[in-house]
Amino acid sequence: MCGIVGYIGSKPVADILLDGLEQLEYRGYDSSGIAVKTETSINVYKAEGKLNNLRSELALHSDEFNKSNMGIGHIRWATHGAPTVVNAHPHTCNCGSLVVVHNGIIENYKELRLELESEGCIFKSQTDTETVAHLVALMYAEVKDLTKAVQLATKKIQGAYALCIMHNNEPDKIVVTKRNAPLIIGLNDDGYYIASDVPAFIKHTKKAVYLNDNQVATLSAKDFILEDENGFEISPKIEVLPWEPVALSKMGYKHFMLKEIHEQPDVIRNILVGKLHTPDSQIILNEVKLNKDTLKNLNRIQVIACGTSLHAAMIGKYIVEDFCGIPVDVEASSEYIYRKTVTDEHTLVIGVSQSGETADTLTAIKQSKARGSHILIITNRPDSAMAREADSLIPVNAGIEVSVAATKSYIAQLTSFYLLAIYMAEIKGSMSVSELVNLKAEMLLLPQKIEQILSNKTVIQDCARKFASTRDFIYIARGINYPTALEGALKLKEISYINATGYPAGELKHGPIAMLDETMPVLSILMKGFVYEKLLSNSEEAKARNARMIALTNSNDPKLNDLFEVIIKVPEVIEVLSPIVAMIPLQLLAYYIAEFLGKDVDQPRNLAKSVTVE
Ligand code: AGP
Repeated sequence: MCGIVGYIGSKPVADILLDGLEQLEYRGYDSSGIAVKTETSINVYKAEGKLNNLRSELALHSDEFNKSNMGIGHIRWATHGAPTVVNAHPHTCNCGSLVVVHNGIIENYKELRLELESEGCIFKSQTDTETVAHLVALMYAEVKDLTKAVQLATKKIQGAYALCIMHNNEPDKIVVTKRNAPLIIGLNDDGYYIASDVPAFIKHTKKAVYLNDNQVATLSAKDFILEDENGFEISPKIEVLPWEPVALSKMGYKHFMLKEIHEQPDVIRNILVGKLHTPDSQIILNEVKLNKDTLKNLNRIQVIACGTSLHAAMIGKYIVEDFCGIPVDVEASSEYIYRKTVTDEHTLVIGVSQSGETADTLTAIKQSKARGSHILIITNRPDSAMAREADSLIPVNAGIEVSVAATKSYIAQLTSFYLLAIYMAEIKGSMSVSELVNLKAEMLLLPQKIEQILSNKTVIQDCARKFASTRDFIYIARGINYPTALEGALKLKEISYINATGYPAGELKHGPIAMLDETMPVLSILMKGFVYEKLLSNSEEAKARNARMIALTNSNDPKLNDLFEVIIKVPEVIEVLSPIVAMIPLQLLAYYIAEFLGKDVDQPRNLAKSVTVE
């Protein structure tokens, strides 16, 4: 988490930094700051809260830095120390000559801090980052060269970092380095751009160098030198980024989340183009690099992911096991990395991630890669760190997702999983031709069905209004829609802060049913199919405890009218594809509840879009 930016060149720096930070707000938004080099000093400006607060702060001081062409900036998601001005970056050494911005976690910061304090360093913040400022400043005092000082200091640092550092005695130099955190340098005729992620500078240049771990780059307005941690020069690999600057616009919607929900029919259409043409044509999935014999004989798959991507992975398990008969284990990456997992070269490991950057998933992927597994990545960011680890890469092409609550990327991950599972089933011959034709025909109809839901939201809005003041919310489902219940609950809690939980409906009677009374809403995801009747009975059980019952259903069953206070209808769909159709009203319900409550829908408290710390 956290985003860092920097610029050195011929243009005024302040707007470049602020615009860059705005593009990185998905990485955190609890405080921000910049440092700019003026003729005589380095000036630091910081503000608590959203980036607009920093903009207002800077407006008061523009005369101090409007001629500056060199600076660094930071947007924070607090890990060590509360989100206050004091803890906001940039951090400085005792005398303020050296400034640093940092993304990552310095794991040995406590030991370093004690050591540095004993050498006279006076700490102002509670952050891990401030140790870097003091440490590099001490090294600089010895070697009088910022690059060398950074190389020496990073040898003492444990943990993950991307760092951007300036020193007042070196008026034409920014030094940057990284380990296990992203850092990219953009190259242009006017100068050099530094950022945690491409959107921060893509409107200025498409030429870029992705730094590898432990490399140190020294940038001046006209020059760029890349070295390893021991000072040996390396020739940089310059890439031309396949990106277009995107004007991040809400397109008339009140929030990005609502816009992204409405983009979902087109997201599915875009994924299917070129891969699924007609119900009787075979799936084309050239992205899968495993040869067909290996695929045919696969006897185990592991899927690792976090949050919403984990829920997509759980549905992936249902469909791969159902279509292909291959056993699939799904695990939260954060658990997977700290136990003795049984993974080898005969296991296909699938990593699912919107950002392709989530630290836990990235670590899990690296661990399984080291054990020889084929790594298949399903991500919305084909340029991400995870994509770089992939043996097979399936980009989900949902387009940039701005809202912290994932919506369209989830539907894109699910669609990609269906394609992958059908592709494997076709190779294995594990489904009949008529089953395949029916399934593909239904998939091609999904965009229209979602459009139908989006064109009539009244019942969902009324339901949201009715239940907006509830303290708790329960979602129940069975079978393939159990992960839908989890995802519906996650959407609601992350943007409305209501305590929402998803349960497999059969588990209610094993404990959670004790919580039910006339104040508790229970939303039952009742899709026609194998478990419909069972779930109906579980809903009856909940109703018998006076819970306030809501149905999300594609059934016209008259029995539902007596059982449910609210019925949200969705179009008919085969059970195996119902998680896609069922999710849309749940996204909308969460959205409208949060909106009625006046919450910050796109940037909910305490969260960040990209979780790059463990
Ligand atoms: C989703 O709404 C969340 N913001 C979060 O759970 C997210 O899905 C999770 O952090 C994983 O992110 P990733 O898909 O980028 O790996």
